[in-house]
Amino acid sequence: MFDSAPLLALAPMQEVTDGAFWTLVHQYGGADVYWTEYFRVHSTSTPEKKIVEAITRNTTGRPVVAQMIGNDIPELVRTARFLQQLPVAAIDLNLGCPAPIVYRKCAGGGLLREPQRIDAILGALRDAVQIKFTVKTRLGFAAVDEFDQLLSIFGKHSLDALTVHARTVAQMYRLPVHYDRIRQAVERMPCPVIANGHVYSAEQAQELLTLTGARGLMIGRGVIRSPWLFNQIRQQLRGEAVTLPTGREVAAYIRALWESQAGADRPEHKQCERMKKFLNYLGEGVPGMFLHQIRRSQTAAEFHGICREFLDHDRPMALLPAELTAT
Ligand SMILES: Cc1cc2nc3c(=O)[nH]c(=O)nc-3n(C[C@H](O)[C@H](O)[C@H](O)COP(=O)(O)O)c2cc1C
Repeated sequence: MFDSAPLLALAPMQEVTDGAFWTLVHQYGGADVYWTEYFRVHSTSTPEKKIVEAITRNTTGRPVVAQMIGNDIPELVRTARFLQQLPVAAIDLNLGCPAPIVYRKCAGGGLLREPQRIDAILGALRDAVQIKFTVKTRLGFAAVDEFDQLLSIFGKHSLDALTVHARTVAQMYRLPVHYDRIRQAVERMPCPVIANGHVYSAEQAQELLTLTGARGLMIGRGVIRSPWLFNQIRQQLRGEAVTLPTGREVAAYIRALWESQAGADRPEHKQCERMKKFLNYLGEGVPGMFLHQIRRSQTAAEFHGICREFLDHDRPMALLPAELTAT
């Protein structure tokens, strides 16, 4: 799977990239591989049923990578042994989550402060995982220079792929993204490297592949914003003109998202809140007061009325964040 280049992966995103979202993204061309939300691993954990079901009911026909987060070696091994019995292409370890509640427990991005512990975890997991084993990391906890030592550790463990979100944990989601460090990983790692961080357009995706030499791209928020992005990247890489969605097509995507996320007994205002999780990203790409108004909506009628007001047109929409439209 990691041998086909360039590989386009949907990033794992907690409370976003569930099975329903994979199914929807797939209708727009989809990713070559889908990462699960992370399975939390600790002494009393059992793999989250909802994520297991996303794997077993995967409708995309494309491979799935199961991600774990945690730091307890026997528990990680126990969970990996269970997960590898499911229809997954690889087991992935999260070394990047910047949420304080996670990193303070020395999991996710917090582990980047303890490289020796990472070394031990990777050794144990590599022994236990009989299918492909991958890591998704940030560059370090506080400083990008930490990446040098991390790469030495990652290089020891016969990983099948390394995904690099080219920011530190301390940076959270702020710019800049240090793409030069992805190039460094490509040069030093014996396995394929997947580049991640702040990709929003097909042009930018192509530039990043050229700049870094990465085997593939993992994209998160850019796909929530525009599920057309994977196919646009494929068009760009084939040298074709990139097709932009019209306002009405964007409105239809939002409607499909609403339907895919509607729980039978979820009250309207809760459904609006759920939709805001997605529209916080998409809305940044819609000019005017769209996002401002969506954030205030409480009912289905208000929500869909705002979509009609701003998106009932046939003009092409690039759906770019402000800093990319300015250039
Ligand atoms: C809402 C949200 C949830 C996320 N959850 C996870 C997760 O469960 N596991 C993980 O490795 N990264 C997670 N991430 C990080 C993304 O996978 C990705 O590395 C990051 O968003 C940068 O890529 P992007 O700029 O293409 O979004 C999450 C990001 C967001 C915005």
